Amino acid sequence: MSFKLLVSAVIALVVGYYWLNYVKRGPIYESDKKLDGRTVLITGGNSGLGKVLAMDLAKRGARVVIASRNLEKSSKVKDEIIKESGNHEVRAMQVDLEDFDSVRKFAKEFDESEKYLDYLVNNAGLTLEGMTKYGINRYFVISYFSRFLLTNLLLDKMKKQSAERPVRIINLVTFAYKYAEVTESGMTKDPKGFMDMFTVTAQTDLANIQFMRNLSRQNNGITTYNFNPGWVYTEGYDTNLFYEARLLFYVPMILFGQELHYGYQPLLKLLLDDSVVKYSSEFFTGFDHEELLPHATNDSAWEPLMKKSLEVTGLSSI
Ligand SMILES: NC(=O)c1ccc[n+]([C@@H]2O[C@H](COP(=O)([O-])OP(=O)(O)OC[C@H]3O[C@@H](n4cnc5c(N)ncnc54)[C@H](OP(=O)(O)O)[C@@H]3O)[C@@H](O)[C@H]2O)c1
Repeated sequence: MSFKLLVSAVIALVVGYYWLNYVKRGPIYESDKKLDGRTVLITGGNSGLGKVLAMDLAKRGARVVIASRNLEKSSKVKDEIIKESGNHEVRAMQVDLEDFDSVRKFAKEFDESEKYLDYLVNNAGLTLEGMTKYGINRYFVISYFSRFLLTNLLLDKMKKQSAERPVRIINLVTFAYKYAEVTESGMTKDPKGFMDMFTVTAQTDLANIQFMRNLSRQNNGITTYNFNPGWVYTEGYDTNLFYEARLLFYVPMILFGQELHYGYQPLLKLLLDDSVVKYSSEFFTGFDHEELLPHATNDSAWEPLMKKSLEVTGLSSI
């Protein structure tokens, strides 16, 4: 073998090793912590990150409720989780986060039928164009306003138990908040194409962060976390993404999208690890805690956003 060929083979091996272990894969969160008797609600738990998380938590003994639009799909996923985990405490429920009436109905049913809520994972989300009947785009309604509504409708339940059973809330977001101010036009515009979608994503993320900070400030035994998974290859990239982004991300996602099994590991840490409690209300990218940028910690921005959120969702107060 020539020297050049040998050097090329060594470089290919090193790059391949790095790519497989640090790009496509990553660290595993090692913990044998059990969750017997704990209840977890995961919105969008029938696919992607929500599904693998639901499976893992069921294996740890938790009571797991998955909630999304497609009850038939969720019921199949529920059966799959029960079969693989051996845990029968898994429930599939229907909610359409694009519809506040559906969120209210779901919250009522959950509140009346479940004794506790120890972990709320506001995971469901998609990146699609289009408007809702509320005059707000779908993205903002699903990924912020319905999370605001659902979390507040279940807040009393969580507060009541939090002295004896501390509660954690995790909101899935992206890095995009870094480039945003929340504006009325970000909510009311029908986003078309990449730049619009990025702006709406950024504003939605920032709104979620401000909401989580507010909940955490109330200091009621509930801790909150904003989690950016980074780039994880999930079904959503094939089904729940607007057309331009699907084209743009197709090849990069195959090359650089993290495998699902590794992508959800940081969520386990946020749910299970005592070390994260001191970071309540803060921001994580993967396993890494990141300082929020100053505009996201400007808490005076919460008051107008809260008023708007009450007005849009029809809640009288929080
Ligand atoms: N994957 C990534 O690289 C990445 C990066 C940054 C942030 N995130 C965030 O992480 C979260 C999960 O992402 P993923 O990639 O795992 O997503 P996914 O595979 O596309 O799953 C989305 C889930 O949301 C549910 N859903 C969608 N619209 C809904 C609605 N109107 N009402 C109720 N449920 C709804 C879907 O179930 P139904 O279709 O049955 O409703 C599905 O279970 C999202 O919030 C996403 O923005 C992901």
